[in-house]
Amino acid sequence: MLFRRVLAQLSTRPKSSLVSANTVLHFDEIPSPKGLPLVGTTLALIAHGSTPKLHDYVDKRHKQLGPIFKEKLGPVSAVFVADPDEIRAVFDHEGKHPLHVLPDAWVAYNQMYGCPRGLFFMDGANWWYHRRIMNRLLLKGDFRWIEGACECVSDKLIDSLMGESDYCGNLEATLYKWSLDVIVSILLGSGSYSQLCGELEPKVQKLAQVTHLVFQTSAKLALIPASFASKFKIPQWRRFVDSVDNALAQANALVDTLIEKKPHSDGLLPKLLAEQITLEDIKRIIVDLVLAAGDTTAVAMEWMLYLVAKSPQIQEKLRRNPDFVKHVFKETLRLYPVAPFLTRILPEDAILGGYGVPKGTLVVMSIYTSGRDGRYFKNPGLFQPERWDRKDEFYSSEMKKASLPFAMGLRACVGRKVAETQLQMTLLKIVNKFEVELGNQREVEIVLKMVAVPSEPLLLKFKKL
Ligand code: HEM
Repeated sequence: MLFRRVLAQLSTRPKSSLVSANTVLHFDEIPSPKGLPLVGTTLALIAHGSTPKLHDYVDKRHKQLGPIFKEKLGPVSAVFVADPDEIRAVFDHEGKHPLHVLPDAWVAYNQMYGCPRGLFFMDGANWWYHRRIMNRLLLKGDFRWIEGACECVSDKLIDSLMGESDYCGNLEATLYKWSLDVIVSILLGSGSYSQLCGELEPKVQKLAQVTHLVFQTSAKLALIPASFASKFKIPQWRRFVDSVDNALAQANALVDTLIEKKPHSDGLLPKLLAEQITLEDIKRIIVDLVLAAGDTTAVAMEWMLYLVAKSPQIQEKLRRNPDFVKHVFKETLRLYPVAPFLTRILPEDAILGGYGVPKGTLVVMSIYTSGRDGRYFKNPGLFQPERWDRKDEFYSSEMKKASLPFAMGLRACVGRKVAETQLQMTLLKIVNKFEVELGNQREVEIVLKMVAVPSEPLLLKFKKL
């Protein structure tokens, strides 16, 4: 009951109300850890485990310095917030064409090699023009075509798991391939996909291998300014450039093949070709959809399987009540948000946490921390999917503002519906065919390699029911 009262107080709290509105504090007064002139607190981060442990480092900083602090980490100076009300305040100030931060190395690559990219990299009116079309195609209307496209690919995954008698050989690669197959099926539509998937198999397989490498090589550059890495062509930069060259070449080759096939069905590609978008832009958008979808959904599936494998009761509940999968999905991404940080560059002055924050400031929002906020979630570290049931004693409509795995506002994930459909549908199919068993002896932790991946390979056994 105490928990309910705290939630009630929180919901009546005005926005950015850590101090009253007439005592706005100066930006310089935002708590900040002591650091060295050039490198800031980078050494403290390195001592904490470096960028693979950034989510935990920032979480500890919030516990030490409060809901808002500023810090210079590597090449980046930012204001960090984790309080759900302050996160909301940032999105209220994101403007008409929200700006997020792109990995330094990716921006440098695109500039050096004159390589314009898709939605994730677009800005301003050009971004909004294409984003509105993609919203209409992927987030509005009837979603049966998305379900159809996900259905045939999940069935293919189940068939391949049927052949596994022991721990699944390379779960990471299997799921990576599955998530790229879903995107190809979304692009072609289920009818054309079923006809062409055999022929496309080697290209998708190759793409799965190379895109995965892009995430690994760019994670290695996270703390090194791209201007330095590219000027001196250090080995990490060369490996990164090779991986991006390769991934873009493979993705473009796949998209060319898909366009040549002239799919007539209900896929995204024929819909895009009917819009007022140049072929060049369509290709860029699709290449980036493939890159944005690959890692995120594959890793989210790994975390869902990890969590349900720990609990035969939850698997049984999913078999009895398929609707429960929605709660399992939300609870997984609350605890293991694949993209644990959201960023915005403020287009106007704002008040955050009672401090005046000037236009142009980079704000980093830790949804790893907000999703584990004990004021919103009772026993925040525990996996309890039932907490998302409206009838649950501890449910509150406030919970959803603290857990934002797909972000919010105009620039939120455009693939959310695709991700929800493919992850929920596939999990249900898996638990209805198999008992999933976990072989890892230790608690698996989050490690950041651009996205939040498991700290060790998952050992999962799929025992036929
Ligand atoms: C569990 C799976 C996924 C998660 C957790 C996720 C998360 C996110 C987040 C947090 C953002 C917002 C970044 C920001 O606000 O700055 C984003 C953007 C984006 N996502 Fe996803 N995503 C997922 C799956 C997908 C899929 C399946 C697709 C493609 C079908 C996709 C395509 C994109 C694109 C293109 C953007 C950039 C949108 C823009 O800048 O307008 N995502 N995603």
